[in-house]
Amino acid sequence: MERPFPTVAVVGLGTMGAGVAVAVARSGRRVIGVEAGPTQAVRALARIEASTARAVARERLTAEERTALLALIEVGDDLAAAAQADLVIEEVPEDLELKRGLFADLDRICPPETVLATGTTALSVTRIAAATARPERVLGVHFFNPVHSMKLVEVVRTVLTSPQAAEQVAELARDLGKEPVAAGDRAGFIANGLLFAYLNQAAAMFESRYATREDIDAAMRLGCGLPMGPLALLDLIGVDTARTVLEAMYEQSKDRLHAPAPILGQLVAAGLLGRKSGRGFYTYEAPGSSTPVAEEAAAAEARPAGREVRSVGVCGSGTMATGIVEVFAKAGLPVLLAARSQEKAERAKAQLAKSLERSVAKGRLTEQARDAALALVTPTGGYQDLADVDLVVEAVAEDLAVKRELFTALDRIVKPGAVLATTTSSLPVISCATATSRPQDVIGMHFFNPAPAMKLVEVVSTVLTAEDVTATVLELCAKVRKHPVECGDRAGFIVNALLFPYLNDAVRMLEEHYATVDDIDTAMKLGCGYPMGPFELLDVVGLDVSLTIEKVLHQEFREPGLAAAPLLEHLVAAGCLGRKTGRGFRDHARR
Ligand SMILES: NC(=O)c1ccc[n+]([C@@H]2O[C@H](COP(=O)([O-])OP(=O)(O)OC[C@H]3O[C@@H](n4cnc5c(N)ncnc54)[C@H](O)[C@@H]3O)[C@@H](O)[C@H]2O)c1
Repeated sequence: MERPFPTVAVVGLGTMGAGVAVAVARSGRRVIGVEAGPTQAVRALARIEASTARAVARERLTAEERTALLALIEVGDDLAAAAQADLVIEEVPEDLELKRGLFADLDRICPPETVLATGTTALSVTRIAAATARPERVLGVHFFNPVHSMKLVEVVRTVLTSPQAAEQVAELARDLGKEPVAAGDRAGFIANGLLFAYLNQAAAMFESRYATREDIDAAMRLGCGLPMGPLALLDLIGVDTARTVLEAMYEQSKDRLHAPAPILGQLVAAGLLGRKSGRGFYTYEAPGSSTPVAEEAAAAEARPAGREVRSVGVCGSGTMATGIVEVFAKAGLPVLLAARSQEKAERAKAQLAKSLERSVAKGRLTEQARDAALALVTPTGGYQDLADVDLVVEAVAEDLAVKRELFTALDRIVKPGAVLATTTSSLPVISCATATSRPQDVIGMHFFNPAPAMKLVEVVSTVLTAEDVTATVLELCAKVRKHPVECGDRAGFIVNALLFPYLNDAVRMLEEHYATVDDIDTAMKLGCGYPMGPFELLDVVGLDVSLTIEKVLHQEFREPGLAAAPLLEHLVAAGCLGRKTGRGFRDHARR
């Protein structure tokens, strides 16, 4: 294909427009910048000169490249100059009437073949296009901030946009070194559409005091490998902006999960907009600062000391049990590995030995440390050996009847005063607790897979858990170098309650043919810095496991938006469970 759009006009040279102008000029194209007035034009040019000077200082650009690039950019305040462009990219403030007025003007000024693109985040591209007489040549081109480093570009087609215009704009994006994905005209498009629903749930979770802001943020960073926690991210984006985007999403979807959490409105009304105003969910050193100031944690001081834990027992012989045994043994705690038979327990210890061996091979563990850890682990086929341990973690099958039976047995066997923990990810901890005569000693310790590598543990106290039992587990987590977060005993705890509705939204997006598997995965990785896209993650976790968690969440909260997407149910029914069966959302066998 011929290089599309040799001359590009950029209207509005603020945060986004200035970045887009520089990116386009770097590709060797002529850029006509248009600002609102002469003073704004002077300021815009100064902004472009300063940002490119910074790029030279950081060696992202040579001085010669900068000179060449600046020579390609002209900035003025007369919209008529846009008539010379093959493509106009609009980056004025997010205001529908302003944008519609501008597009009506551009439609008059520009020759009929000129393509007009809007940089809107949450407004309807269709309504902007309707202000012109060429809706087939109007589309959305959504860059991400900062433009120079964010590779994602969403190319948004309305029902009237010609495929050819969309393909030319995608080609331009590739030419700028970006990765374009195709999206339809829906508030939030792909990346923000999935991101903001999740941010909204995190805000609601904070508002309901289910967990602290620090714990919610740490849980999502450490449990999912996200670059930032959701509340810190809301502060960065701006609480007001987030609320506007959610309003627009709700307006279109009428999905209650998109209705902005009331706390967002309260913060906006109070002028607490996030980093830019020095306070939002967190308080910062100064407006514009990224450093939060610590606020005193009154509750932590009032808590009693924990019980002493000198030895532990782990029930189970699967992946989680073996991983948890490794965590304790590496931290120097004697561990009884109790399985249903001596043979199973021995086999689990052999698995553990293999895992430690891999760490030695990778240079992460010394041979002495490996030997010391192994020597601390005693496999046993009888739960009665657990009589004298100070704490037991159960990691047997995710089946309430099985777990309750085990807790009843532990209640008979283990000495009084010992802590009994379950690592369930989806069952109520209280149902394990009531299978014993000592529910005050029962607590959830939700480790993540692989337990030796994942730093997070969700510490789940029931309404009956004693405070010193919670304290015991928090202290133990610190001792074994895990990061505990505290939450109550409800479905999904923190991480799964925020993660799985997002994964379900992604499946729904696919089901509605809004975007493809690859485009959705790309959008989340490049637009939000996620380590994996939602479909990659679903295939790794297992579609059956994901479906179970979604059903538990729906059952708990009865929120219509949380009902599992039919496509997920169909794939599970068809035996497409993800990587483990060779096929899920992607066909892994053929790769
Ligand atoms: N900031 C972000 O993170 C981000 C990310 C993606 C998309 N967007 C979208 O990009 C668009 C621009 O946002 P921004 O953050 O760059 O805003 P901004 O306020 O930084 O910049 C807007 C610029 O437009 C100029 N302007 C206003 N009216 C004009 C007119 N009639 N003609 C010409 N110029 C005019 C202003 O002087 C200003 O320089 C918005 O639609 C926004 O939703 C923003």
